Amino acid sequence: SWSMEHFIDEQVEKIRETVGDQKVLCALSGGVDSSVAAALVHKAIGDQLTCIFVDHGLLRKGEAEGVVATFKDHFHMNFIHVDAKKRFLDKLEGVSDPERKRKIIGNEFIYLFQDEANKLEDISFLVQGTLYTDVVESGAGGSSQNIKSHHNVGGLPEDMKFKLIEPLNTLFKDEVRKLGTELGLADDIVWRQPFPGPGLGIRVLGAITEDKLAIVRESDAILREEIKNAGLDRDIWQYFTVLPNIQSVGVMGDGRTYDHCIAIRAVTSIDGMTSDWARIPWEVLEKISTRIVNEVEHVNRIVYDVTSKPPATIEWE
Ligand code: XMP
Repeated sequence: SWSMEHFIDEQVEKIRETVGDQKVLCALSGGVDSSVAAALVHKAIGDQLTCIFVDHGLLRKGEAEGVVATFKDHFHMNFIHVDAKKRFLDKLEGVSDPERKRKIIGNEFIYLFQDEANKLEDISFLVQGTLYTDVVESGAGGSSQNIKSHHNVGGLPEDMKFKLIEPLNTLFKDEVRKLGTELGLADDIVWRQPFPGPGLGIRVLGAITEDKLAIVRESDAILREEIKNAGLDRDIWQYFTVLPNIQSVGVMGDGRTYDHCIAIRAVTSIDGMTSDWARIPWEVLEKISTRIVNEVEHVNRIVYDVTSKPPATIEWE
């Protein structure tokens, strides 16, 4: 019968056999799949693995620090941290079309990863956190999501000439989470909600600025905290804030304000293909709304998105 311990032993053995004394590379994104894959391969071959973390500055509050704390400080992996925040912001300056944003972010990510990989010698293998469902979906005639050009950060060009190690490609998501916990990964990684590769870059609608990113990042952190406090974090598929980039009139004290609006998006879903808006209790919404307006500067209005997918998508861009 199938057991997690047995699976780990078997994979460790298999990875050691495949790799021998050669070297292996992994692109860490902070996501569940790449994190679990990296932890498993590290268990098998230790220092023969090098992880590259390209920080595009579009992650949520505390995420980049979490990746560093886990993989560098806790697991002591060979860890290359590419701090490319400024570079991404520069490339994205003035760009408002969502598909162009995705392209720029995706291309830049690949460029930076490749640049780091080229500095290392004798790398033979690349670890990818491909799941069983990814294998099945691409086998069935490509991605079923063609409405947006979904670039998965971690999706790398084929001309890199590495052999692939895909130790999760027989597992479903729930099994990957169990495996992650067994390997010692913390709950906030193992239970991380789906997060798009372009990150907050597609949650600031229109052109991205540092100030607007800060508004989304701070409001999102409050939302996540309150959803967790309410015990809803494992029931809601995705929950996040969006900056629609409209300003509206408000009143604070004796003064009129003309400031940003924040939209809350929270959906239930099985696979992200369709979704319904989450029926978050009003008291929870009230608390989130009050906290965001009080704690995040330049926000004077909160709205809740009550559309399902279809006709709306989960993300706003
Ligand atoms: P939509 O917005 O199309 O999203 O309903 C469906 C799922 O895909 C995620 N998503 C992305 N993931 N790169 C990604 O890796 C992207 O560009 C991207 N756009 C959307 C979205 O968060 C949801 O889980």
